[in-house]
Amino acid sequence: MGPVMEPTILITGGSGYVGRRLVRRLTEQGRHLRLLLRPTSDVTWLRDLERPPEVIHGDLEDVASLKGMAQGIHQVIHLAHIRYARSVAATIDANTESVVFVSSLRALSKIPCTSVDLVLGGEQAASTVPGAIILRPSMIYGPGDDRNISRLAGWLRRRRWLPVMGARHLHQPVFVDDVIDAIIAANARAVEGVFAIAGPDPMSYAELILAIGSVLGVRPHLVSIPSTLSIAFLRLWQHLPLSQPVDVAQVRRLLEDKVYDIGRARTLLGFAPRSFSDGLKLALTKEEVLT
Ligand SMILES: NC(=O)c1ccc[n+]([C@@H]2O[C@H](COP(=O)([O-])OP(=O)(O)OC[C@H]3O[C@@H](n4cnc5c(N)ncnc54)[C@H](OP(=O)(O)O)[C@@H]3O)[C@@H](O)[C@H]2O)c1
Repeated sequence: MGPVMEPTILITGGSGYVGRRLVRRLTEQGRHLRLLLRPTSDVTWLRDLERPPEVIHGDLEDVASLKGMAQGIHQVIHLAHIRYARSVAATIDANTESVVFVSSLRALSKIPCTSVDLVLGGEQAASTVPGAIILRPSMIYGPGDDRNISRLAGWLRRRRWLPVMGARHLHQPVFVDDVIDAIIAANARAVEGVFAIAGPDPMSYAELILAIGSVLGVRPHLVSIPSTLSIAFLRLWQHLPLSQPVDVAQVRRLLEDKVYDIGRARTLLGFAPRSFSDGLKLALTKEEVLT
């Protein structure tokens, strides 16, 4: 019997926040990776890896630039935005054993807007791939600039007050390493279909901010902004020739409860996300070497 061939995993979005951590984890496990990156993607961080992966260049906006991307590939992890699922579906061939698409729990939002439509359209394209696995994370947080919790923490480090909308609405953020565990499990197991990937417990936005304050050793003062007033203000702003910091749909999404059932991921992927308080301690106190 000849040597067992190690599968090669194609990863899109490998230069992003989740992607860099996933690539580091998989290369540490000795996995063969091929990264699809744009010619403009930052690759300096790859130099720190003991076994830098193969890199090919292409742009998911331009299917012609993806020629050869999936040649000799056994598994695919699509981490770049789910709206590019159609490009991935068009490029892979019959030899691909598994495709994990990372989407977003935004798919469940009831607020009609372009960003939700893009996720739903992407998932539709993903589901045309036989055996497709679609992981839908909630808000992802972790060490470094996660662009979510880290921004709130940055504000609270400088000021003791915070303007808030939707303080009582529920959130279920998930720690970045738990998302990576779910991706690796989905890639390795004989599963298919859609999985919600969120933290173990929902909490109100006010509780979330107070928990950040507690890790930072500050007691934030929450200044409530009436949402009806903000929406009316933003509707007026739309008519001005000025760019808007947030739009009406974003504000309305803040006022949705984001509570998810992660039972399927627990059962089929062995998903066991850490508590928000444990994740926060790692996110806000751990030395970050990657970004
Ligand atoms: N972060 C969250 O809270 C969150 C929550 C739910 C779901 N998600 C989903 O999880 C996935 C990973 O999130 P993330 O925060 O790590 O994303 P991110 O940091 O924004 O990274 C996006 C990645 O996609 C690549 N990319 C973007 N456009 C591309 C194109 N046209 N062609 C090829 N590559 C392209 C980027 O490459 P460049 O380096 O060249 O820009 C980058 O590697 C995304 O699909 C995201 O929608 C994230």
